[in-house]
Amino acid sequence: MVELKEFSEAPLVFPGESPRDVRMSLDGKFPAISDLAAAARRRIPHFVWEYLDSGTGTEATVRRNRAKLDEILFDPAILSGEFEFDLSTEFLGRKYPLPFGIAPVGMSGLMWPDAERILARLGAKTGIPYSLSTVAAQTPETVGPHCGPDAWFQLYPPRDADIRVDLLKRFKDSGFKTLVLTADVPIASRRERQQRGGMSTPPKLTPRILAQIAMRPAWAFGTLKFGLPKLRTIEKYTGNQGALSSTKHIGYLIRTSPDWDYLKWLRDHWDGPMMVKGVLVPEEAARLKKEGVDAVWISNHAGRQFDGSPASIEVLPGVRDAVGPDYPLVFDGGIAGGLDILRALALGANFVMLGRAFHYAVAALGEANVDHVVHILEEDLKSNLGQMGLANFDGLRDHLRT
Ligand SMILES: Cc1cc2nc3c(=O)[nH]c(=O)nc-3n(C[C@H](O)[C@H](O)[C@H](O)COP(=O)(O)O)c2cc1C
Repeated sequence: MVELKEFSEAPLVFPGESPRDVRMSLDGKFPAISDLAAAARRRIPHFVWEYLDSGTGTEATVRRNRAKLDEILFDPAILSGEFEFDLSTEFLGRKYPLPFGIAPVGMSGLMWPDAERILARLGAKTGIPYSLSTVAAQTPETVGPHCGPDAWFQLYPPRDADIRVDLLKRFKDSGFKTLVLTADVPIASRRERQQRGGMSTPPKLTPRILAQIAMRPAWAFGTLKFGLPKLRTIEKYTGNQGALSSTKHIGYLIRTSPDWDYLKWLRDHWDGPMMVKGVLVPEEAARLKKEGVDAVWISNHAGRQFDGSPASIEVLPGVRDAVGPDYPLVFDGGIAGGLDILRALALGANFVMLGRAFHYAVAALGEANVDHVVHILEEDLKSNLGQMGLANFDGLRDHLRT
């Protein structure tokens, strides 16, 4: 009989191994984020993989995010001497040891049982920000105590003003300091691959889904322990429907298509830092700055919403020009390693967020070794900075090949 508490142990750590042995073993098996993705795919049911990994349409935007990142080249440098790296960065008045963090992902607990709290603890342990989604499988009340001092919360904009006020209060009371309004989901996208995989929100246990689950025992035992993931934060407002099927109704209640007045309302009702996520158009970024938004988050939602949008890295230089040199910009979309983070920083981002990479890690490695993803990114940052003769991010821009 498999012990339930063992379910999240990565299958790589053997009794008697020292932390150094474990690190070497992890480095040997998972030197890159792509190795974590491959392992995650082997450990989670097919419909969950399709939810995590798919874009919308033909997934041209997913490919474009990658292709456009690869086009950005740097000049290396020789004879630069030795390095003492400093990877720290300042963002919104706070100093972070690393320039990246964990983007909001709905139903993280579907990718791996209790993933929200695992990733919140990872953020607290490594000093990087964790963002909790409105449509997480855990509530702000249950995740807040596991977060570091500056957790971010991501808001899908509720239609009803009472729900809005209550949500803001719940997040604030749970210790979340920074508000992220996601603005690039004005309407549901189709995500055909996800539909083909059999995914619904919340997941329904059809015979097909049960067969997929049966092939992934570690995930199944963990899910038994924590319960089938549900939209627990919004359950309070949807009652039983949060646990059942009518996502259309939930969508109506919980998520409106906000306008500029809505933004003003939100700005007036939140006294901490506020960002808007999902911006690709320079003029809109400039207007957000004018409306008192503290930072703009450039994102195309990892190609999950609109297959006709540009790669997020393509629009970054134009947005930087539109908002001026000092305005805080966050970037995400297709980041697969430290080099990609350097590309975004060089083109004008102040901070970089990753969604899928952290979820590949938690599904591949469980809580015991999830920090390996931070290690990969950190080592990759150093390795690539070193090739350019840089000990920190200053001067990165000068190495861009134009
Ligand atoms: C499975 C999945 C669910 C997501 N759910 C949300 C969400 O609830 N709210 C949100 O603002 N963004 C959501 N995103 C988008 C991420 O916050 C982020 O913009 C994107 O994942 C970044 O691209 P990357 O995964 O290539 O790093 C989701 C992304 C994925 C992959």
